Amino acid sequence: MGIDEHNQFEALIQGLIADDYSSCTDFLSISTLAGLRSQMESLILLGQMNPAGIGNKSDMHEDRSIRRDKVNWIEELSTNEFEQIYIKKVWRFIEYLNKTCFTSITSLESHYSHYEQGSFYKRHLDQFQNEKGRKFSIVLYLNQDWKEEDGGLLSLYPSNRAEKNISPVEGRFVFFRSDEMEHEVHPSSTRNRNSIAGWLKN
Ligand code: OGA
Ligand code: MN
Repeated sequence: MGIDEHNQFEALIQGLIADDYSSCTDFLSISTLAGLRSQMESLILLGQMNPAGIGNKSDMHEDRSIRRDKVNWIEELSTNEFEQIYIKKVWRFIEYLNKTCFTSITSLESHYSHYEQGSFYKRHLDQFQNEKGRKFSIVLYLNQDWKEEDGGLLSLYPSNRAEKNISPVEGRFVFFRSDEMEHEVHPSSTRNRNSIAGWLKN
């Protein structure tokens, strides 16, 4: 881990402690982002994005009044070089978190999320009621040339402070607690919206 990466991880953690969330725009290089974007575009073209469910295990069901994104899970042993770079980078972040914050994160799960124009995900928490494994949520955006007027904001609703609205511009990475931070994905009326959502679990 280089000094730059060390500083980046430290800033993400300090931001979370201070503001209940943090974000940066240099988590991955431009070329890795381009590789992930093209991988996601092929999954969409091949029809491999599937309607997301809500809940988990036996409680899992589709509910279009709550969420309308389509997802494809990223395999930890993926052979796609860009997915490997993403996974390794997140694992270095996890190791840093575990070492400095005693978080004992032991696994990572991630999926591509595709929100077609007009699709949304209503206000929710990422931690399930019947399974508390998800500790931290991460989101990485893959939307080239996203403009303010395209909408598609991620709203964060910290419990004791004003809501925070984040535009899903390419390369932006967002970090928050899965059990505490309620959040919502607003629709875009102009274009599709692509991201990778991940969860750090124990
Ligand atoms: C999720 C989620 C946020 C986003 O998948 O649980 O809240 O901005 N995604 O894509
Ligand atoms: Mn969420």
